[in-house]
Amino acid sequence: MADPEPSVQAALAADAPTKQSSKQTVDPYNVAGEIGADGIAKAINYLTLIEEFGTKKILEEDLVRFEKVTGHKPHRFMRRGIVFSHRDLNYILDRHERGEPFFLYTGRGPSSDSMHIGHTVPFEFTKWLQDVFDVPLIIMLTDDEKYIFSEKRTIEEVTSYTWDNAKDIIAVGFDPKKTFMFSDYDYMGGAFYRNVTRISKHVTLNVARAVFGFNDSSCIGKIHFGAVQGATSFASSFPHIFGTDESKTNLIPAIIPCAIDQDPYFRMTRDVAARLHFAKPALIHARFLDALQGPGSKMSASVDSSAIFMKDQPNQIKNKINRYAFSGGQVTEAEQREKGGDAEKDVSYQYLTFFLEDDDELERIRVAYTKGELLTGELKAKCIAELQTYVKGFQERRAAVTDDVVKVFMARKKLEWRGNPNAIVV
Ligand code: TYM
Ligand code: TRP
Repeated sequence: MADPEPSVQAALAADAPTKQSSKQTVDPYNVAGEIGADGIAKAINYLTLIEEFGTKKILEEDLVRFEKVTGHKPHRFMRRGIVFSHRDLNYILDRHERGEPFFLYTGRGPSSDSMHIGHTVPFEFTKWLQDVFDVPLIIMLTDDEKYIFSEKRTIEEVTSYTWDNAKDIIAVGFDPKKTFMFSDYDYMGGAFYRNVTRISKHVTLNVARAVFGFNDSSCIGKIHFGAVQGATSFASSFPHIFGTDESKTNLIPAIIPCAIDQDPYFRMTRDVAARLHFAKPALIHARFLDALQGPGSKMSASVDSSAIFMKDQPNQIKNKINRYAFSGGQVTEAEQREKGGDAEKDVSYQYLTFFLEDDDELERIRVAYTKGELLTGELKAKCIAELQTYVKGFQERRAAVTDDVVKVFMARKKLEWRGNPNAIVV
């Protein structure tokens, strides 16, 4: 079994501002599996999170309804339980069925110059939902968050990441006619700031502590930031898209695709929305793509060997997978042939479940690996080829994203979507 590189483990541990507890921690600033008696992090238990956070598991019947209402076969992330949880998805499907307005909202905190493959998961999914629903999409870049929550980053640094990350996100393939992307530092003010204060006025320090784990030494910027991320859930923050009649726009809900770590922000926002009599945002949650070092960890943008980055070259992808990808296989070939490998624990197999589209091929790989017909090296080779293709396609699209393209996405323009964009009928 490939030993997780000790230096990498240490770097990951140092990077995560960990609480010294053995329970699993999942919040916007911390993702760590339960630490067992042996000191090794276990895989994140997603079912526990559903219970703890009070979300709903996505069930087979939800997938059936999704297909019936949208006419699209559910995305592979939905079919494979990668997108596994939701809040009020059925309400959004009801609205879609009735032709009532709603919009998509997602975001990214620009913490480094290149996104890693884990970050592309919610964005790939959001792009697909944009195609399926044909509704406006808001993409928030929380450069302020990445300044406030880091001890070392300067505003100049996060601002440069904002621009690079905007290009990465655009390269996923969003439609500029239906998408508005903004940086908090630029867009703050006006209708958006009004909603920020509506939220911050309704959240006490006690609630912020309970939801986010802040303490007496947390700077006040952190305590306030939840109101900023929350305010993007309200259509009235975007009068250039939804109009200025707040009696109508406050009733248009968002649906937010994100990984489950972002849920605390929106749990808080939904609570405030109910009190303001605004539409509560709906959510659709993804699990994490584990770090190369294996289950129980989340890829870190600041630890190079924890992740495949969207700027990595084919040979870097190959070396990282071969060197670091945690293997569920046996130590020797003979043993592997005899006992087979554990696909559930195997990082290369897991990455294939995220990125290989073909269900039958994936199942063939799983069966062959579990039976010992497929060796670890062969499984890794399949994973390497798949990721090289994915990253290459991304890089080709990324090369075409100029500064002018970014400006189009960030322009405060009217969006065009199905039907008459001005006819917001609530
Ligand atoms: P950020 O930049 O940490 O992450 C961006 C998006 O990627 C998800 N994510 C992952 N998904 C799968 N596997 C991983 N290893 C992985 N790591 C991160 C995150 O959940 C997120 O969806 N505060 C946010 C920015 C934000 C936002 C939002 C995100 C503002 N508004 C609304 C989602 C929805 C942040 O720092 O994300
Ligand atoms: N009457 C709206 C239209 O066709 C209905 C609609 C569907 C909508 N999806 C929407 C409106 C999303 C706003 C946003 O334009």
